[in-house]
Amino acid sequence: MPAILIAILDSNPDAWGEEFRTLAPTRDFRLWPDCVGDPTDIAYACVWEPPQGLLAKFTNLKAILSLGAGVDHITSDTSLPDVPIVRMVDPDMTMRMTEYVVLHVLIAHRRLRLYDAQQRQRLWRNHDEPAANKVAVGVMALGVLGRDAADVLSRIGFRVAGWSRTATRIPGIETFHGDGDLDAFLARTEILVSLLPCTARTEGILNRALFRKLKRDGALGGAVLINAGRGKLQIDADIVDALDEGILSAATLDVFATEPLAGTSPLWAHPKITVTPHNAALSDARSMALNMLKQIERFERGLPFENVVDRGAGY
Ligand code: NDP
Ligand code: OXD
Repeated sequence: MPAILIAILDSNPDAWGEEFRTLAPTRDFRLWPDCVGDPTDIAYACVWEPPQGLLAKFTNLKAILSLGAGVDHITSDTSLPDVPIVRMVDPDMTMRMTEYVVLHVLIAHRRLRLYDAQQRQRLWRNHDEPAANKVAVGVMALGVLGRDAADVLSRIGFRVAGWSRTATRIPGIETFHGDGDLDAFLARTEILVSLLPCTARTEGILNRALFRKLKRDGALGGAVLINAGRGKLQIDADIVDALDEGILSAATLDVFATEPLAGTSPLWAHPKITVTPHNAALSDARSMALNMLKQIERFERGLPFENVVDRGAGY
């Protein structure tokens, strides 16, 4: 039977092996780095941040399955074999990301940082709070995660718009696409939620020039950034400057160009920044393993993989 490689950086290989074996006790799993065996046995590779060059060693590889929705941790490998890359699309992950986005949008909308500070001063004081339908949230990327978050935000009452690469329509959500629409999308957006993948086109997109185009005189009285897409989308120094200069009023960052975020980073201690340790959609290991095994079983029944990455989209 074709073997399944599990290569997941910074994790306990045995714990992952157990998740997979519990679900498929008769399958042949090989755990990187210590128990790979004969590389020609490997047909499927389930990976998170595989080291450069690892996947090229498996000459009979049929597919690479990403443990995450993002695939930049795979496509950054310059010697990648030409086999399908299958993204993780999992309801558990989607639900968790939507929770994260809604939580941080509401923190900004309901001025939670201000009330936290007041509590420490034992201060009983209300501030104006606009209705959600006066607040314009813009979701950058209307993929699996962006669409769900946009839909839930819209159902809570926010004025939601989304921006994507290609044109799309979503009931109840104003949609923009491509470089040509970006300025118009930003000009109507007070809370910017980034759920973009990191590609050659999106790297560094969250920069000072972009922040300046956001709506600052809306119901919230300032522009807010929430980035749970990828760290390389953002220019850290530009975020700090934009906050210090009032171009942004707050930022929530879940992802960073280098993770873990260095202890010396100014992002940690900035009073207007919330840092979370890339856990926006930290998902259930069993659910991930089951998802990947279902994909493999589907392929072995002669059906195509689902959620194959379109390399033409700049990945
Ligand atoms: P999808 O592939 O479903 O969606 C990607 C979206 O990005 C699409 O709307 C696509 O537009 C858009 N897009 C891609 N390139 C561009 C571009 N150049 N300009 C404008 N829009 C663009 O991905 P998911 O929604 O499943 O995941 C999105 C990202 O979220 C992942 O790639 C990952 O980086 C991040 N993520 C972060 C997690 C965390 O814990 N922080 C957890 C999971 C994911 P179009 O459809 O038109 O091509
Ligand atoms: C992902 C992630 O891409 O967790 O799934 O970042």
